[in-house]
Amino acid sequence: MTQRIALVTGAMGGLGTSICQELAKAGHKVVASYHPQFDNKDEWLKEQEAAGFKDFVCVAGDVADLASCQAMVAEAEANAGPIDILVNNAGITRDKMFAKMERDQWDAVIATNLTSLFNLTKQVSSKMAERGWGRIINISSVNGVKGQMGQTNYSAAKAGVIGFTKALAAELAAKGVTVNAIAPGYVATKMVMAIREDVLKGIVDSVPMKRLAKPEEIGYACAFLANDLSGFTTGATLNINGGLYYQ
Ligand code: CAA
Ligand code: NAP
Repeated sequence: MTQRIALVTGAMGGLGTSICQELAKAGHKVVASYHPQFDNKDEWLKEQEAAGFKDFVCVAGDVADLASCQAMVAEAEANAGPIDILVNNAGITRDKMFAKMERDQWDAVIATNLTSLFNLTKQVSSKMAERGWGRIINISSVNGVKGQMGQTNYSAAKAGVIGFTKALAAELAAKGVTVNAIAPGYVATKMVMAIREDVLKGIVDSVPMKRLAKPEEIGYACAFLANDLSGFTTGATLNINGGLYYQ
């Protein structure tokens, strides 16, 4: 297979780590993008090396900030080469019932989970189209598909991710660039472990498979979408949620 260069945002989080590992296992060169304020980068790299992943390139950037994304992609390309695969994975929650939600909680989630797609994709999509090959993979959520109480901000952003995916897929379909979304259900990462214990128990009970997803079950889907043989798949949303919700 052809080795591609993949940029993964939020790479050092729970899902991001698995996405990096599964793309590397598929033979791709991975650039792991992390938040500039994340101070455990060296520890993360050591853990990856110990697990057999020795070739990750790391770049820092705030996905909510356009100038930071421009600088980050320029650094990634200087260190690794042109980006063939972009995984827009970085994200946050600021859960509150709408009646109690403040404007800063709305703004933070929209900027990090949705405007980030503009900030990052803008740096790579036209160049992918010029080269005639590209993969853009956006991490949405089951809660963007079905709506979730306590998450008007997050559900709006993650539904927006799906709309962005479908529109850009149409624009790039004839250029060899696919654009797809993955809508994971609840995955065992720090984002989910932050949910109050009683609420989380209720969530797991409501999943037909009665468990959380393993991060690698989502990472593997990224490798699938990045494959040459996924070239006819575009504008799709993969629901990977243990049976929690189907469209
Ligand atoms: N599923 C089912 N019921 C839920 C729920 C959920 N996810 N979240 C809240 N509820 C219910 C509560 O059980 C409660 O029901 P009762 O009134 O019958 O007791 C009611 O909604 C009100 O909730 P709280 O009493 O907890 O209200 P609060 O103001 O103290 O807290 C909250 C509100 C911060 C939103 C809190 O309920 C919460 O954290 N909920 C979880 C929301 C959630 O699912 N977040 C997902 C985070 S992980 C993620 O986002 C990843 C992903 O993409 C899947
Ligand atoms: P996580 O472990 O908290 O990882 C999120 C990552 O995003 C962290 O590395 C975080 O860095 C990074 N990040 C946050 N804000 C950033 C910013 N402004 N700039 C750059 N990086 C930033 O959560 P996760 O569960 O792996 O989530 C990954 C993605 O999957 C998110 O988009 C999330 O919404 C989505 N998702 C998760 C689940 C789930 O159940 N876990 C389900 C569906 C979808 P810091 O830690 O340094 O802030």
